Amino acid sequence: MSHLVTDAPGAVPITPVMAGDGLESRMAALDDRARAWVKATGFTAEAGKWTPLPDAAGGLARVLVGFGGGDELWALAGLPDSLPEGAYRIDPEPEPALATRMALGWALGCYAFTRYKPRKRGFAHLAWPRGADRGLVERLARGIGLARDLINTPAEDMGPAELAGAVEDLAARNATPCRLISGEALLAENYPLIHAVGRASARLPALADLTWGDAGAPKLTLVGKGVCFDSGGLDLKPASGMRMMKKDMGGAATLIGLASAVMDANLPVRLRLLVPAVENAVSANAFRPLDVIRSRKGITVEIGNTDAEGRLILADALAEADTEAPALLVDMATLTGAARTALGPELPALFCNDEPLAGELLRAAEAEQDPLWRLPLWAPYRKLLKSGIADINNVSESAFAGAITAAVFLQEFVGKATPWAHLDTYAWNATSRPGRPEGGEALALRALYRLVAERFGPRRV
Ligand code: BES
Ligand code: MN
Ligand code: ZN
Repeated sequence: MSHLVTDAPGAVPITPVMAGDGLESRMAALDDRARAWVKATGFTAEAGKWTPLPDAAGGLARVLVGFGGGDELWALAGLPDSLPEGAYRIDPEPEPALATRMALGWALGCYAFTRYKPRKRGFAHLAWPRGADRGLVERLARGIGLARDLINTPAEDMGPAELAGAVEDLAARNATPCRLISGEALLAENYPLIHAVGRASARLPALADLTWGDAGAPKLTLVGKGVCFDSGGLDLKPASGMRMMKKDMGGAATLIGLASAVMDANLPVRLRLLVPAVENAVSANAFRPLDVIRSRKGITVEIGNTDAEGRLILADALAEADTEAPALLVDMATLTGAARTALGPELPALFCNDEPLAGELLRAAEAEQDPLWRLPLWAPYRKLLKSGIADINNVSESAFAGAITAAVFLQEFVGKATPWAHLDTYAWNATSRPGRPEGGEALALRALYRLVAERFGPRRV
């Protein structure tokens, strides 16, 4: 799957080279012909660029690859798709932490979305560098690949049933229970907001509820926005805003991928994964602007705009999650355009009601090269969500601070004592970079995995 192999006889060595001194000392070790060749190819050891070195018979003796330093993860990620197919190894063997990062970059560079058309060429293979943590590389690559596939799949083939099905598949793979509440049962089980958002679609709304692990272990609960397509509902989006909305289940997809990695690692937590899966559609029975809906928690919500649907389905799921008083509650959502306006597509916004947790998560994000940026749960903006006839409005009248008001809305449904992180993500690579092709992306998955492993995991030696 990840094109990392244990046995690679005759593997061609790949040598990472730092620009400047690194390149010069490498050059000094070469014979005249090879040195002339490196010059002729214009290789300057720029990060990610590579040059082949020929052997006496005209074969491939070695590959030099530019290595910026500080970019261990992505340094080799472009190679699987650009080197000739075949087997390679890293020479000299990197130390274990670096070996793990490089192997993960390789594995992520071997991702392609092939559901609708095959790739024209295969990926190059890499022999596992000796010290690499293979289990970690494999479970992260698998979780990230799963999330990317779910996001990339068009809404026609990734409706609420299919998204909930992905949670069920994950449960089955881990021999663990998954409850599915769907259609009218959402009303009977008191998930009025999930039902209201999803009821206009020909495809029934659902809530998937997976549990896994030792009942006595600390509770980790993940809640992902699973809007399989967001037309905006009756407050319809313009074409330009609607175009990308197959990815509006990116929060759910990312947390499904994270849950997969947590279970693969057998981390000592009691995991719960809640995915409200809906399509925000237009129909005669659609919920309307200025409707008032009594939420699961009892808070009445006035619908200022049906396009602010993500916070509605999350509200019911978070209220349920909170009843168990989890040790850590994380939600992730493609929640607002405003978060993109503030931070752009590469930087998910983090909101957190717990200072130590926020600090740990930001440190984990930095260590993983999976960055997050914190925005405030600014309580004074709660007033922007006032409603004349209900406890709260789902949107602010103001054009300001849209990501913050959305987070402050969610906070109403989470208990003060619950350590809670809310991530507003884009879930998409706007451009292709090595290891990160344009398309669905599991932003923040690695950061969250590291946080969970550090918080709850067995002490590492
Ligand atoms: N899914 C969108 C937010 C979104 C848009 C995420 C584009 C990523 C890219 C969400 O449901 C939405 O429509 N939010 C509205 C809220 C507004 C109506 C208060 C928004 O951000 O415009
Ligand atoms: Mn919307
Ligand atoms: Zn949405």
